[in-house]
Amino acid sequence: MQLTEVDTPALLIDLDAFECNVAKMAALADKSGMRLRPHSKTHKSPVIALKQIAAGAVGVCCQKVAEAEAMVSGGVKDVLVTNEIVGTGKLRRLMELAKTARVGVCVDNASNVAALAQAASDAGVSVDVLVEVDVGGGRCGVQTGEPVLELARAIVAAPGLRFAGLHAYHGSAQHIRRFGERGAAIAAAAAKASSTRDLLQQHGIACESITGAGTGSFGFEIESGVHTELQAGSYVFMDADYRRNLNADGEFFNGFEQALYVYVTVMSRPAPDRAIVDAGLKALAFDSGMPQTLFAGASYVGASDEHGNIVLEGDAVNAPAFELGQKLKLIPGHCDPTVNLHNWFVCYRGGRVEAVWPVAGRGPGF
Ligand SMILES: Cc1ncc(COP(=O)(O)O)c(C=O)c1O
Repeated sequence: MQLTEVDTPALLIDLDAFECNVAKMAALADKSGMRLRPHSKTHKSPVIALKQIAAGAVGVCCQKVAEAEAMVSGGVKDVLVTNEIVGTGKLRRLMELAKTARVGVCVDNASNVAALAQAASDAGVSVDVLVEVDVGGGRCGVQTGEPVLELARAIVAAPGLRFAGLHAYHGSAQHIRRFGERGAAIAAAAAKASSTRDLLQQHGIACESITGAGTGSFGFEIESGVHTELQAGSYVFMDADYRRNLNADGEFFNGFEQALYVYVTVMSRPAPDRAIVDAGLKALAFDSGMPQTLFAGASYVGASDEHGNIVLEGDAVNAPAFELGQKLKLIPGHCDPTVNLHNWFVCYRGGRVEAVWPVAGRGPGF
């Protein structure tokens, strides 16, 4: 099938760009001597996870049990849930996965350690447990120092749990636009992680893994020499938000290719300077700003449920690309929640569709 025959709205992967991104991050991790464990919350697809693993990743990160289930049932053998899992139903499901895969999970609370140990012993499995440290993101995680030591001791003492190290991810630093400020945030995060690692070591507890980093910051984690594992996810697709980060030279971040698009049709031209497309709030995520068109002078400025409003200026007003019925590609503002809105990826190379991959872990289920 030709790409132009694909009906819209559709979630597209440009396979050449995607493969280039997978290979590039694998090579960067390899060169740095760090383990790569890409975050699957970006794509929610075991097909993609297995390609990342074939390129050198040790496994994947997941943000919730539902994603881990999608990964393990799709053939992934090593998953780390980079989150706290609370509640007997979710814990039971998590332990079920440990019967066929290596499973890791994070904690930031002693009662959760006890609940994990109980669930592991009920299921007759053992799991890796990392203490999540708040290294500056202000989300989950305990403060550095003594609170981590207490939790690590509880994990070491618990049957069925293996203390595997520290989860030290600084989420909000990913989107600090200026290079120097982003670097300073990660340097501070790495300092917290290393002092905590040293404290644990002084008390005879070894930190096998210090895991963290995203697409906006992984270079700084590599530089720090503290982290041992990279969790970047968005690099595989990229989005308009990450393209607004700045490099050291002040240029926009262009380290990875744009591989993800939402394909749309011009469904109305209500005025010479406006084109309406068939993708709005139900096909694109807007939490990190508007999607982008590939044309100078064509700006997606607003959405309702099933409509996107594109304002045209200059040459774009009379461009054939915006005639009624034309199809065009939009760069999503934020890749992860955009992917979550779709049932499948339509994967193309050049102008031809090569594969359709389900977004297996999509939906709100935790
Ligand atoms: C815990 C954790 N690790 C890694 C990532 C991957 O970050 P990115 O998709 O920005 O590369 C995320 C993204 O939110 C995350 O929450």
